[in-house]
Amino acid sequence: MDVFEAIHNRHSQGKVRPDPLPRELIEKLLDAAVQAPNHYKVRPWRFVVLTGEGRNRLGDVMAASQRERHPEFPPEAFDKCRALPLRAPVVIAVGVDKPSEPKVLEIENVCAAAAACQNLLLAAHEMGLGAKWRTSEWARDPKGKEFLGFESDQHMIAFIYIGYPEFVAEPAPRPSFEDRTVWME
Ligand SMILES: Cc1cc2nc3c(=O)[nH]c(=O)nc-3n(C[C@H](O)[C@H](O)[C@H](O)COP(=O)(O)O)c2cc1C
Repeated sequence: MDVFEAIHNRHSQGKVRPDPLPRELIEKLLDAAVQAPNHYKVRPWRFVVLTGEGRNRLGDVMAASQRERHPEFPPEAFDKCRALPLRAPVVIAVGVDKPSEPKVLEIENVCAAAAACQNLLLAAHEMGLGAKWRTSEWARDPKGKEFLGFESDQHMIAFIYIGYPEFVAEPAPRPSFEDRTVWME
C-alpha cells in the first residue's frame, strides 16, 4: 500500500471482532511503532500489550477505581466500566518516559511517542486491521496507571484498541490543511 493511500484512508475503527490476533501481528505493529523519530535516541515509548485475561484485569482495576471515586454510581456503571477494555481483542497502552537528563524535554518525548502511535495505526491499516486511539479519563487514572506499571506523573497517551474490523467503513474526507497553514516566502 502506498504511504499516501494509507495516510488518507486510515480511519478510527472502533467496532472490531473479538477474535484474538496472532502474536506475530502484534509484534509487527510494535516494530512499526518503534521506527518513529525520537530526539537523543531516548526511545521514550513504553507499550503494555493487553490481551485475553489481561484486559479483564485492567477492567477490574478501572471499575474499582471508579467505585472509589464515585461510590454513588449505580452498579451498572461499574460493570460498563469493567467491560471497556473488552471492546477489542488487543489493547496497547502507551506510556511516555520522563526525561532522564536535562537536555531531554518532556514535550519531545510525548511527540515521539505520539509519532509511534501513528506509525502503529498506519501499520494496522496496511495489515487490514481496525484500530482506534483512545484516551479518555482512563489514560489519567492513577490506579490504572499503577496497574500498567506507569508512574503517577508519567504521561499515558493512548490506549490503542486493535482487532479485525467488523466492517469496512467508507472514510469521510478530512478538512484541508489550508486554513491551518501560512506560507512565509
Ligand atoms: C490523543 C488522542 C486521544 C483520543 N482519545 C479518544 C477517546 O478517548 N475516545 C474516542 O472515541 N476517540 C479518541 N481519539 C480518536 C479521535 O477521536 C479520532 O482520531 C478522530 O475522531 C478522527 O477520526 P479518525 O481517526 O478516523 O481520523 C483520540 C485521538 C487522539 C489523537
